[in-house]
Amino acid sequence: MRQVATVLVLNGPNLNRLGTREPDVYGHTSYDDLVALCERTGAELGLQVEVRQTNDESELVGWLHEATDLGSAVVLNPAAFTHYSYALRDACAMVSGPLIEVHISNPAAREEFRHTSVVAGVATGTIAGFGMDSYRLALQAVATLLAR
Ligand code: DQA
Repeated sequence: MRQVATVLVLNGPNLNRLGTREPDVYGHTSYDDLVALCERTGAELGLQVEVRQTNDESELVGWLHEATDLGSAVVLNPAAFTHYSYALRDACAMVSGPLIEVHISNPAAREEFRHTSVVAGVATGTIAGFGMDSYRLALQAVATLLAR
């Protein structure tokens, strides 16, 4: 029997504030609703999804080490760390499973400092600008990659 693949959905700083944080940019869906969306999508795709959020860079790095050790796939919204955290980039580079970078907004269409992602070069791919659907699309991409 085929084992159910585990996917860690990791979220960086301020994403726990979804729903009330800049709703014109990020919409009205709360973080809890996002967790439910990811779990529902995972169940539909036959993936074991675990969703986490932290405001702490070192905790996020630790979770990426965990994904590396377990061989788990990762869906990562690094939030503001996207734009400057080389520590996060180096941790992402060690992940052997698919690692999809996601963004709710389209950073390329926003302020200049958001145009750089230090993570993109070590991600399998990036999905950005589809609101909460970015996560659904990322989980679908993981399922497709794991089925190959
Ligand atoms: C974000 C985009 C980042 O620029 C920002 O710092 C975030 C959220 C997004 O999901 O659109 O916190 O990653």
